Amino acid sequence: MSIFNVNPVTVDDYRRLARRKLPRFLFDYLDGGANAEATLAANVNDFDRYRLKQRVMRNVDNIDTSTKLAGFDAAMPVALAPVGMAGMYARRGETQGARAADAQGIPFTCSTLGICSVEEITAATGKPIWFQLYMLRDRDVIQSLLKRAEAAGVTTLLFTVDLPLPGMRLRDYRNGMIGTNLCSKLSKTAQLAYSPRWIMDVGIKGKPHTIGNLSEVVPDPDDLNEYKAFIDSQFDTSVTWEDIAWLRSIWPGKLIIKGVMEVEDAQAAVNAGADGVVVSNHGGRQLDSVASSITKLPAIAQAVGDQCEVYIDSGIRSGIDVVKAVALGAQGVLIGRPWIYAMAGAGEQGVKDLLATFQNEIRTAMALMGVNSLAELTPELLERV
Ligand SMILES: Cc1cc2nc3c(=O)[nH]c(=O)nc-3n(C[C@H](O)[C@H](O)[C@H](O)COP(=O)(O)O)c2cc1C
Repeated sequence: MSIFNVNPVTVDDYRRLARRKLPRFLFDYLDGGANAEATLAANVNDFDRYRLKQRVMRNVDNIDTSTKLAGFDAAMPVALAPVGMAGMYARRGETQGARAADAQGIPFTCSTLGICSVEEITAATGKPIWFQLYMLRDRDVIQSLLKRAEAAGVTTLLFTVDLPLPGMRLRDYRNGMIGTNLCSKLSKTAQLAYSPRWIMDVGIKGKPHTIGNLSEVVPDPDDLNEYKAFIDSQFDTSVTWEDIAWLRSIWPGKLIIKGVMEVEDAQAAVNAGADGVVVSNHGGRQLDSVASSITKLPAIAQAVGDQCEVYIDSGIRSGIDVVKAVALGAQGVLIGRPWIYAMAGAGEQGVKDLLATFQNEIRTAMALMGVNSLAELTPELLERV
């Protein structure tokens, strides 16, 4: 931003701020996607395939952006997505995100792989949050995690199904984030030397950098290579829909399956007892060249929308995108990178401001489309270009 652009407003503004503050390898881990990053780009660009219809003279005096998201009374159809190691992007980042979400009246999702534990996050707001789970080989660890989540007041579980193993994120190899050779180590040291504000705020004052929910089982979480080794060894690649049935039997709250891209899988999730699905390709971080989430949403919403709640994430960058997703059948959206860019660039206030902008954008678009409620947003109000 130039000196005349003093206030960050868009996701892109916050992205630029984040880029300046973070060590390169951390920024790339956040910003990047799998392989050639084709899906990462398509997730964002494909929202442009849909245009909004402008309708006039319709009395838009009672605009209401509020809705229910898995039973949560939300001020708008947006939730903060689970982001592993959010506490590496800002000091105790998960607590900052949870406070910002609470202030703006939307749900916050704690990742299995967060720096802050579920207890630390719920203590920060005193409010219920959502919890995201990856299937680990050790089912005892899963059971104890779920007991902790329930005791901490978690109402909704998001079970992520699109990461039997981590995707090939090539930036992480190129910039030395993953790698133990001398070049990788020297590169990381040099990148840290260029990030004094991050070193003070997160590197020193943001400790401990353990994976809060798994601090007893991750061997040395301060070491990113150990962290990756843990994921490689503990993530269960043999998981199937039968495991969801098991999960359903031990989890009493809402269960949402995150990472579904095909109608058949959405139907399987419903059959396994899910209360909702998230149409998601993990923000383009897993299977590169898979379709964008927004192009997959309409068919899934049509197929299972009357049997469960349908959510979407990946590529949502504005309130206008939220309006398009709702019109195509989503109950709500999750945003991942946007809230981390805002937090890394401008702290908790940045996340609050970004969410306020989203809500204003939703409200303004609704007024100019001639609707007062989210229920009135239907596919007929969109044009495909
Ligand atoms: C740095 C990073 C870490 C993530 N960690 C998790 C995670 O721990 N669990 C999970 O289910 N999804 C994780 N995701 C995926 C997000 O929950 C979400 O699906 C994705 O970011 C949505 O795309 P967007 O970033 O374009 O909004 C992560 C995404 C990013 C960018």
